[in-house]
Amino acid sequence: MTLQTGDSGTEAVEADLRARLATLDLATKVALVTGENSWNLRAVPAIGLRAVSLSDGPAGVRGVAQVDPLPSASFPSPTAMAATWDVAAASGIGDAFAVEAHRQGVDVVLAPVINLQRTPYGGRHFENFSEDPLLVGAMGAALVTAIQSHGIAATPKHFIANETETERTSYTAHLDERTLREVYLAPFEDAVDAGAWAIMSAYNGVDDGVQAAPMSEHGHLVNDILKGELGFDGVVMSDWMAARRTVQTAVGGLDLAMPGPFGPWGDALLAAIEAGTVAESVLDDKVLRVLRLARRVGALDGATPATGRDDVSGIDVAAVVRRLAARSTVVLRRAGDVLPLRKPASVALIGPNAVEAFTQGGGSAHVNPPYLISPADGLRAALGEGVTVTVDAGCTSRLTARLADPGVTDDWTIAHYAAGGHLVASTTQPAGGHVHVTPASAAVLRVSLTGTVRLDTAGSHELGVAALGRHESFLDDVPLHRETSTAHGEDVLTSTSNNPPGGSATLTVDEPRAVRVRVELEIPDLDDFGRWSVVIVRHVAPGPSEDELLDAAVASAVAAEVAVVVVGTNDEVESEGFDRQSLALTGRQDELVRRVAATGTPTIVVVNAGAPVILPWLDEVAAVLWTWFPGQECGNALADVLLGRVEPAGRLPWTLPAREEDIPTRPTAPRDGRLRYDEGVLVGHRAWDAAGRQPARPFGFGLGWTDFEVTGMRAAAQALAADGTADGAADRVPDGSVDLLVTVRNTGERAGTAVAQVYLEPPAGEVVRPLRSLAGFATALIEPGEQADIPVRIRGRAFQTWDVAAHDWTTLPGEYTLHAGLHSRDTGATLTLPR
Ligand code: BGC
Repeated sequence: MTLQTGDSGTEAVEADLRARLATLDLATKVALVTGENSWNLRAVPAIGLRAVSLSDGPAGVRGVAQVDPLPSASFPSPTAMAATWDVAAASGIGDAFAVEAHRQGVDVVLAPVINLQRTPYGGRHFENFSEDPLLVGAMGAALVTAIQSHGIAATPKHFIANETETERTSYTAHLDERTLREVYLAPFEDAVDAGAWAIMSAYNGVDDGVQAAPMSEHGHLVNDILKGELGFDGVVMSDWMAARRTVQTAVGGLDLAMPGPFGPWGDALLAAIEAGTVAESVLDDKVLRVLRLARRVGALDGATPATGRDDVSGIDVAAVVRRLAARSTVVLRRAGDVLPLRKPASVALIGPNAVEAFTQGGGSAHVNPPYLISPADGLRAALGEGVTVTVDAGCTSRLTARLADPGVTDDWTIAHYAAGGHLVASTTQPAGGHVHVTPASAAVLRVSLTGTVRLDTAGSHELGVAALGRHESFLDDVPLHRETSTAHGEDVLTSTSNNPPGGSATLTVDEPRAVRVRVELEIPDLDDFGRWSVVIVRHVAPGPSEDELLDAAVASAVAAEVAVVVVGTNDEVESEGFDRQSLALTGRQDELVRRVAATGTPTIVVVNAGAPVILPWLDEVAAVLWTWFPGQECGNALADVLLGRVEPAGRLPWTLPAREEDIPTRPTAPRDGRLRYDEGVLVGHRAWDAAGRQPARPFGFGLGWTDFEVTGMRAAAQALAADGTADGAADRVPDGSVDLLVTVRNTGERAGTAVAQVYLEPPAGEVVRPLRSLAGFATALIEPGEQADIPVRIRGRAFQTWDVAAHDWTTLPGEYTLHAGLHSRDTGATLTLPR
């Protein structure tokens, strides 16, 4: 059987896929709709199908190894990409995804995340693009197009209403029909329009008024809307272990249960089909979709992927991610001319995140980068010899002690025991505080891990030992902790596996000595994640007190020409698996900033965080930069920005609150398993507008390194009438879109990237609508003193609202006002359009 190349969807290709399907027996078809393991689908050589491989995630391509993944480039977090407000930037990232995927033999990338930043508390906020559905949709679609142009499938996820980590595998989101359509479904609609080849369904359930069901069983949203109405012809795969029931998932539109080889289908699905509870045609449609995906990525007969697997070897991934990290930086404050730095004689680099930058968020998006450029290394390399760079933590921001350094531990010895205490094997694991435990064989039921931690300095040491699963730990054979609960797959999903339970002790020593650590551990069965565990050893050596840390940082600031204070979050604060409880910076970071600024040394604060944190000193320091989770090029990108080599051209894709109590949508925790999206369509900046509250910085804000002014706006296809109105005829293209030209002047002294943002104000009416919605945007590089007419397209959909009675889109008649500005509260130029 030979497969022709060309677009899937053509008659010949579809006929060929159906012919292959027709040769498969029932058991093979059933086998094809569950993963073979965590990251691969099954091969069926008889029909020319090789195994298709999948990999996380949105900030790089981790690869297919469950443990110790190969080095793989760590990209800036997705919010950073959205902060460029530049769909062209997505294409560069799409190239980088393709290089990494090709290198690791990955066919399907489990990205992008196109859920919304519904509240700043969401644990996976950093993996999302924005709080605004239009910006999410535009970035998501651009990335899908870019990744797939290289023959790699993108997997927009998680369909749908997956905005909270608390009880994430079990809550049911309650959304009304209009909110669903206008806000949460909109980015998925864009992704389908962009031709996504796969979509991942969410863990949570949704009650949309028609059906209340887990998303892996939601026939109304998946079969009727996604596949039916929107015409999605790709694979709907489950989130990992989200598919639980056999028949409900089969008839509910799920095509692929991940991971394998277990899951709810297999023999149970075979039996259901044989019993007639699930029609074989339902299975056939799933298999056809899997084959279509395989065809598209070039896994059938070794055919070229639908879009051609081009040569990406010339793409310099490090350069792409470095540039993105720098240009996505948002300038929140720029007083005087402290930036860019002009070769200072000395720089005091201060802050917990200066010492240990948080370059990627926690959870499944995590990759194992080949290297990490720290802020100090980046700055020193850029400033060159002769410039003194001092580094001080200034305070501790972590709530738990850090992992034991490999320098104070030896390799760990693991004795593996089968039933009856029979010793099966003895293995070793490298020194350090993170010990992965893989049983030597299936017969191994428990292990005994032993090793030492050297307490090299006199004073009080804190030592912690934790492990995933039932265990007992000992320090010098003295019991430390006894954990009686067993671990399950759910503990991986909630990130408990990254921070398992355990105990700690303070040991005071007069002279150096080694402490013997022993952990007696039962190997847990983590369901589809397999049988393994992890032992975490934490150690804090005697060191300066918090007061001493602060004083040392202040002294360094006094002695330096300029202070750069890097504050932010870390993996205890922002991660998959849990939500945040507070938006305050942890530890004494706020005090640190204020004390350094009070020295009088010009102070630049760098915020290294993904989701909003409260910055009470925002307007008291010389400059504030928001650098996201910048990925492996962290230090280089920071130096590029500080030294003026790359413009920090980012604009906030979310609203920065001044105080937590001002945030309109705060609760993230479900009640009795229900999470109500009661704010409806008033999400993000729309809710701030509706509440009439003043944030610290509005949605869309960013100063860059020059100044802009929006001086006018006109419909592209016609001159405006003298009264500033357009009659709504010549300015419309067939789908109801409007093409505008927004005139922006660069009033500053450097060339810079302007982001023209157009917000739509609907006519007053009975339906509650946002005061203003983001309706279109575009970027342009403008020379100093010059002005540019930036083309911005407003889609017809921007004028529409969902008519609940008619179950359809409608354009309510009236005068619509378009506002063009530099952020959501900048209503500079206006234009009215009757509709
Ligand atoms: C996450 C997904 C991810 C999957 C595989 C899940 O827990 O929600 O985003 O793709 O794991 O790692």
